[in-house]
Amino acid sequence: MDIVSIIDKKRKGLSLTKEDIDFMVMGYVRGEVADYQMSAFLMSICIQGMNREEIFYLTDSMLHSGEILDLSIFGQNTVDKHSTGGVGDKTTLVLAPLVASCGVNVMKMSGRGLGFTGGTIDKLESIVGFKTSLSEEEVYRQMQDIHVCIVGGNQDLVPADKKMYALRDVTATVESIPLIASSIMSKKLAAGSKKIVMDVKVGRGALMKTEEEARCLAKTMIAIGEKYGVKVVCVLSKMENPLGYAIGNGLEVKESIEALKGEYAPDFYELTLTLATEMVAMGLEISREEAKEKVMRNFESGKGYEYFLKLMQAQKGENKVHISKNYYEVQSEKEGYIHSIDALKLAVLSLQLGSGRKNLNTEIDHGVGLWLLKKPGDYVKKGDGLLRVYYANTDIAKEDVLESFVIHENKKEVSSILLDILK
Ligand code: URA
Repeated sequence: MDIVSIIDKKRKGLSLTKEDIDFMVMGYVRGEVADYQMSAFLMSICIQGMNREEIFYLTDSMLHSGEILDLSIFGQNTVDKHSTGGVGDKTTLVLAPLVASCGVNVMKMSGRGLGFTGGTIDKLESIVGFKTSLSEEEVYRQMQDIHVCIVGGNQDLVPADKKMYALRDVTATVESIPLIASSIMSKKLAAGSKKIVMDVKVGRGALMKTEEEARCLAKTMIAIGEKYGVKVVCVLSKMENPLGYAIGNGLEVKESIEALKGEYAPDFYELTLTLATEMVAMGLEISREEAKEKVMRNFESGKGYEYFLKLMQAQKGENKVHISKNYYEVQSEKEGYIHSIDALKLAVLSLQLGSGRKNLNTEIDHGVGLWLLKKPGDYVKKGDGLLRVYYANTDIAKEDVLESFVIHENKKEVSSILLDILK
């Protein structure tokens, strides 16, 4: 078995064996496969694809490249959640406490943002004092006490994904269903999740650009889960416009707190309640209707917010969120109805302001970002504020902001962002 012939086999579109895949993945983790060889291998997978068996082998190799945890110690009603990444996606901040308040255990390991997608850990670190790194004993105690905990990923889980993802990011090999499915599922399986709700995004602000691709990714992740006796439910939703009002870490925390207190953008509310319902139904093994009722009750009564405050207290978060004091409004130069707001364009502008990182060593500014003052379907007059720009050291061009808004005279009906739920 040698590296070049395995790469060549995939390049020609032939199927790889478990031994081939183990050889490449484990060899890469040990430093025996060079970056340029792994890059060629990943590119050949992107171009030729993989069959189901190969995807299972790849997931299994990555899963066994590091430590594997067992979340079942927290009980059968423990549910994990994962998003394939979107713009303004702060759902975890609301979901985790809300779902825990319904009697489900949520031990969430989250990551940092890379490129235009944000990460929950960056968002939480915009809360002064919030500890995203806890000892095993602290996690265990917190789960016993309040049933919810959000921490940064364990460095020893799936080292293969850490190395491969960093390489994919700089070799145009991120957008591949076999690579995305194995990357996500190996991490979820290594974290010990037995029940997972996946938030699969579709559209210009997401990795999956078409509904067909998103369905294929969802079905692949569900099949990987079945192989390991893990239940996976995938909620498919549109990611054309930013989710909610805020893009940027501190601003997204502010929006989440406001949502938990009852003030929310309709799209953010719809998606969060759908995901929460699926998590509660799965965790407590009850019907969707019963789960929805519990979620709505706790959302409306403020019990979800109470659990958010418990989470803050347990992880030493103070009542202060980093948000830049410098901001200005960009005003509309047109009159009409907003038809769309380009999520990807605004994500790139927020990145330029400093809210995200181009590589994992970049320092980010938790206080900067964008706050939408209007959503698709809204009517604007010339001079009405479209969004607020929160800045610190760098600014963005007004023309770029205006280009992100498509405004026409005719009315725009706003449809639901939910596409389907697959299990
Ligand atoms: N998220 C992941 O964790 N991995 C991918 O490959 C893509 C998105």
